Amino acid sequence: MKKAKYGTVYLVGAGPGDPDLLTVKAQRLLQECDALVYDSLVPQELLELVSESCRCQFVGKRRGHHSVPQSKTNSVLVDLAAQYSRVVRLKGGDPFLFGRGAEEAAYLEHRGVKVEVVPGITAGIAVPAYVGIPVTHRMAGSSITFVTGHEGIDKRRPLVNWRALAIACDGLVIYMGLHNLDYIVSELIAGGLSPSTSSAVVQQGTVIGQRYLKASLCDLVEEVQKANFASPSIIMIGNYVNYQVDSCSPKPANVTMPILF
Ligand SMILES: C[S@@+](CC[C@H](N)C(=O)[O-])C[C@H]1O[C@@H](n2cnc3c(N)ncnc32)[C@H](O)[C@@H]1O
Repeated sequence: MKKAKYGTVYLVGAGPGDPDLLTVKAQRLLQECDALVYDSLVPQELLELVSESCRCQFVGKRRGHHSVPQSKTNSVLVDLAAQYSRVVRLKGGDPFLFGRGAEEAAYLEHRGVKVEVVPGITAGIAVPAYVGIPVTHRMAGSSITFVTGHEGIDKRRPLVNWRALAIACDGLVIYMGLHNLDYIVSELIAGGLSPSTSSAVVQQGTVIGQRYLKASLCDLVEEVQKANFASPSIIMIGNYVNYQVDSCSPKPANVTMPILF
């Protein structure tokens, strides 16, 4: 029988740092794969799950300078799929949430490479939970918005209408928002969000080195700058922050995560 031209690429979510937050399916695929392509926020411990013969390739990005352009990552995946039957493309959190997973999946599909997505636990839910903050609470409202604060570098992305978001939803969970925080906060307040709204920032949410602060929206920028917060961080804004249950937060995992500048 003729061998398939390409193997399968599994687009796998690694979760938000704590290796214990990997799904069972992701763990099995890592143990079985022939090639692994991974990002900056993937914990080192997960790389140890692969076999000795597995071919591993780093394609991580750092803010401001892409260590590997997206087009190169795409072609690496096709090349590896041409050589191996099981290729894992491991991405931080969930591959389809602010992770370019859909772009990679479409590229592979277009070239006739079979691709399967394996959802992961996203930072926007897990990181708040690691300080005991529930992203929804019946008393805090009925909507929550996951939004990226990382705008401007890739002009093809539509700009976020922060003023509209200020009144359109009950809570925000902002990914990649630190560098734009001043602008985001002033737009939200201009859009009608009360300056006294509760907010919080968590850096390196699920691992050692976790840092956390809480402030009113109007003080958030100053507090974040004073405490020198860095990426990766999740920013939480809204009444839901007040429903924190300190005692339920898990202990951060004893693993390290790179700080991204
Ligand atoms: C490119 S996005 C990828 C998001 C990922 N796909 C997900 O579902 O979590 C990277 C951003 O996720 C957030 N992030 C990921 N892991 C984090 C962690 N352990 N602590 C805090 N923020 C984290 C940060 O905002 C970071 O800049």
